[in-house]
Amino acid sequence: MTDTAIIVVAAGSGTRLGRGTPKAFASVAGATILEHALRRLAGVDASVVLVVPAGFEADASAIAERAGAAATVVAGGATRADSVAAGLEAADARLVLVHDAARALTPAAQVERVLGALRAGARAVVPVLPVVDTIREAGDEGLGAIVDRSALRAMQTPQGFDAQLLRRAYEAAGDARGASTDDAQLVQALGEAVVAVAGDELAFKITTPADADRAEALLAPPGSAAAGALEIRTGIGVDVHAFGGEGPLRLAGLEWEGQGLAGHSDGDAACHAIVDALLGAAGLGDIGGLVGVDDPQHAGAHGEVFVRAALARLAEHGWVPVNVSVQVLGVRPRIGSRRDEAQRVLSALVGAPVSVSGTTTDGLGAIGRGEGVQAIATALIRRAAAPPHRSLTD
Ligand code: CTP
Ligand code: MG
Repeated sequence: MTDTAIIVVAAGSGTRLGRGTPKAFASVAGATILEHALRRLAGVDASVVLVVPAGFEADASAIAERAGAAATVVAGGATRADSVAAGLEAADARLVLVHDAARALTPAAQVERVLGALRAGARAVVPVLPVVDTIREAGDEGLGAIVDRSALRAMQTPQGFDAQLLRRAYEAAGDARGASTDDAQLVQALGEAVVAVAGDELAFKITTPADADRAEALLAPPGSAAAGALEIRTGIGVDVHAFGGEGPLRLAGLEWEGQGLAGHSDGDAACHAIVDALLGAAGLGDIGGLVGVDDPQHAGAHGEVFVRAALARLAEHGWVPVNVSVQVLGVRPRIGSRRDEAQRVLSALVGAPVSVSGTTTDGLGAIGRGEGVQAIATALIRRAAAPPHRSLTD
């Protein structure tokens, strides 16, 4: 039987977020803020008391169940302190943590730090962060004095207390508690020491629409638009093969008239350049490390085999292609004559649009003399979709 209760206060109206619904019941990245908050508490050995706006108790119970939390649900009050008081009445434990549902991304490690300090004997514990902005007093006319920010700390939650002590602090504060948004302050008013432990930037309070956007980006499943914007990579690949192969000419996934390209495989420089662009984008090396290019098993192998192997390697590492562009430099074959066909074949192979272009080098160099073919490719890749709500590691 656990001796700890977590009171999650979720009874605020969320005026500053402005969603027209109580903040904890507003949705971010496909789930309510309350559900995100509860999921992060799932591994903590404590009973949960949920404080929600009157009328939202049934909704809250359903959310708690989805999050795997066995919670007691009670109605909150007009101020945060009133809501904490309502939670305290329902909490039956030696230690209590008081946590804002609005700090929905709080890492479990922060909760454990607070609990650890309590179990080590502290009677009041708050997670804090240094203040990063330069702070001034507002002043009556214009701005007032600069406050020395090195002496300031921003308060986070959960705050942890000996339950008896917090009850005493609330009784002693009486009606004055109404204005308080910090439980530790009420305890301090009794002359009790409050211990600080390290907070975490992920424990920020979702307050404004910009905070919700930040939470959305952090919680979005990889591969979603929000996450995709953060996780894209680009890569480049080049390959050259000389004419003189024994087999038919294979290039850009097609077979062409005329002498083939030399090489252990089929010499399809366009496919090989695509492979290096894909691998390069994912930081997974190059074609030499992908498959033994000298391996007898790949003698005469079509370029498609290597592209498929590269795509499989990317998939293992959670990447999928967005698009590929490849340009072939050479006197022959004339890429333009079968561009559509090449694009169709390569796009089907890659599973994303592949555009193909061709150019000569104005007769310059070995390529210009028709001794061989060069290809240059670029690839854009993104994170593959994965199950949502990956844990934000502590
Ligand atoms: N809270 C509460 N009861 C209240 C007021 C606030 O339980 N009467 C909770 C909120 O649900 C939130 C936490 O206290 O989890 C911190 O409050 P805040 O961020 O100010 O949330 P709101 O009061 O909902 O937002 P706003 O002030 O913008 O209306
Ligand atoms: Mg508020």
